[in-house]
Formats: sequence, structure tokens, C-alpha cells
Amino acid sequence: MSIPEVASRLVAFVQDMMLGTVPASKKFYKGRCIRMKLLLEPLKAGNLLLKNRLVMPPMATSKADADGKVSRAILDYYDEKTRGGRIGLVITEHSFVNPQGKVSPNQLSVADDSVVEGLKELADVIHRHGSLAVSQINHAGSVSSAEITGLAPLAPSAVSHPNKKGGTVPHELTKPEIGGIVSDFANAARRVKEAGFDGVELHAAHGFLLHQFYSPLSNLRADDYGGNWENRIRLHLEVISAIRKITGDDFPILVRLGASDYREGGVTIQESEAAAQAFENSGVSILDISGGMNGSSVPGGDGLPGYFAPLSSAIKKKVGIPVILTGGITQAQDAERLLEEGAADLIGVGRAILNDSGWAEKELASLCQNQG
Ligand SMILES: Cc1cc2nc3c(=O)[nH]c(=O)nc-3n(C[C@H](O)[C@H](O)[C@H](O)COP(=O)(O)O)c2cc1C
Repeated sequence: MSIPEVASRLVAFVQDMMLGTVPASKKFYKGRCIRMKLLLEPLKAGNLLLKNRLVMPPMATSKADADGKVSRAILDYYDEKTRGGRIGLVITEHSFVNPQGKVSPNQLSVADDSVVEGLKELADVIHRHGSLAVSQINHAGSVSSAEITGLAPLAPSAVSHPNKKGGTVPHELTKPEIGGIVSDFANAARRVKEAGFDGVELHAAHGFLLHQFYSPLSNLRADDYGGNWENRIRLHLEVISAIRKITGDDFPILVRLGASDYREGGVTIQESEAAAQAFENSGVSILDISGGMNGSSVPGGDGLPGYFAPLSSAIKKKVGIPVILTGGITQAQDAERLLEEGAADLIGVGRAILNDSGWAEKELASLCQNQG
């Protein structure tokens, strides 16, 4: 073994010892990169210490109990996905902050204190395999329906959801009702912290309530929650501040931002650059960049690995906090290239891991093959 190779392996070993991430698989250890790859490098974000740059993004499983509690099936699912210890950060599926914000059957709940015991088990399963665990919390706003919740959907304005033209017209939230939503998010974050998660992520993308406030397509308010982008992220900032108050200064808050609606009159990347800076100033630890009213894909779906890279790259240039890029990435080499190009600091891989629980093991090992 050459001297640089010995030195590199020694550095990697010390790093593993310090981060408590000694690889479980000897095979992988033998294949450790001679030159360190960005995807394998640790990252500090606030007080989060990620052992590498690979993120499993939130993906709804519809495996919770009927009342939204953590089920055996959910525990088994996250156990299977994290086994092998290759994923630095797992963001669990969107969980409703109050019953009116639920969007689908068997969705996970963070809406009352009775769910905390189950959430503890969920955080434990993810931690057992050496990944950090963040819980994504959500309110569906006008995407919810009376069929699911037994209640009228609500939204910033009394207009049907931009993706459901001619659909139900939601109830327009009053200011006191907005205050109630802020408390619901804060209490949900408190439960997430009590359950032992390492942080909480606000779902502010894919057309759900926080995104409905952010998008001019769904927010037609004339008060200080509508109009310019500052007003359209007022609710987000109030939620962040309320979470801070209830969870303390140290609990990491992430924001999944729908950074463009890709639609005339919708959210633009220029607004999202400014919003991203406002989130950074409010103490957010990581920005998780995705699309807006178009959901998690780009209209016309070009299928390119990292199809939101133009959005994440633009935002990364404006902020000092880490940025996650997710979408269309199915090979570690592409993740590595996107990191090298400065498109993001962390890479989310969703469907590839959903379809193959051994994806991370195989792909991270493949990064290190054929090196001289
Ligand atoms: C089955 C499924 C469920 C999803 N659920 C969520 C969710 O709960 N919250 C969220 O922000 N995104 C959700 N997404 C979007 C993913 O997090 C991700 O952004 C998207 O799948 C694109 O990444 P990929 O190409 O790596 O799969 C979901 C995607 C899938 C396929």
C-alpha cells in the first residue's frame, strides 16, 4: 500500500471513529475511496453532524395506523431502508400537524401527544443504523378534503387549489385561525423533539398549505399575509419563531421550499433566493429545495439527474447554510458530479431507495471502484 493510500485510510478511519460511523460491512471498508469523495464527506449544519451527504427525502408510505400512529409496518420500512448505515440523514414522510391538515388515509400524525411514544420508536429505528432523523411536518390546506378529514378544507384565500381548477373552494383563514395553525406547527415540532428526532422540517413545497401561502397563484390576500414575497412567507417565519420558542434555540429546523411554480404568475426563483436568505436569517439550519405547484418534478419532466439543480444552485449562491438537492438522481456518480458542480451540499435520493433498499450500499461502494 502506498504512503498516500495509508494516510487516506487512516484519515477515514479516524473520521469514522469520531463520528461513530465505523462501517458495518468489511467489504465496503476494503473498498473505501483512496481519494475522498464529496458524497462521503461529513457535514456540520448548525448542531447537526451528518456522516455523509446522502439524504433519504420524505416519502409518504401510507403505512401509519388509521389514526396516524406509527405502525409496525412503518418501523419495518424505515429499518429496512436504513440498514447498513449508509444514509447520512433520513427525513421521514410528511406528517399532519392537525386533523384538518391531513391529506390521505394512513398518513402519519404529529397532531397530538398520544403519537409521541410511536414516534420515539421511529426515531430509534433510524438512529440504530447510524442515520440522523428529521421529521417533516405538514398541513395540506386546500389539498385536503372533507372525505378525509370530515372538515372543510382551508387555505389563504377562498379559491380552489391551482391544481384542482373547479375543485372545492376552501374556507379563507382568518388571522386568529392562522394563529392556531402556527401553534399547531409549534406543538408538532415539540412532539418531534420529545420523540428524539434530530430536527424538524417544514413542508413548504408541492402545493400544501405553507406553499399555498407562498404562491401568488393561491394567495390572493390583501392583508399582511399576502402581496409581496415578504408577506407571503410571514406565516413560515411565524411558525419558525414559534418552534424556536417551544423547542429552544438548538433544535434544528429545515425548510423544504418549493422554489419555483414554473407557471406564469407563480413563485419565481428570484423570490425564492430572497426567501431563502430570510429563512437563513431566521435560524433555519438546512434548505431542502424542491418544486412548487408542479410537485416534485419539472413540468415536461426531462428526467435529468438533479432536475432542480438550476434552483438549488441559484439558492446555494445566496446562502451560507447547506442546501439539499433532490430529484431524478439514481446513480452515486451523478450525485458526486452535482456536488462537485456546486449545485448543492447534500443530495436526496428518493425513488431509487424506495425501489431498492440496497441502493446506498451498492452505489456508495461503486463510487470508490476503479481508482488508481
Ligand atoms: C411515494 C412518494 C411519496 C412522497 N412523499 C413526499 C412527502 O411526504 N413529502 C415531500 O416533501 N415529498 C414527497 N415526495 C417527493 C420526494 O421527496 C422527492 O422529492 C421526489 O420523489 C423526487 O426525488 P427522486 O427522483 O429521488 O424520487 C414523495 C415522492 C414519492 C415517490
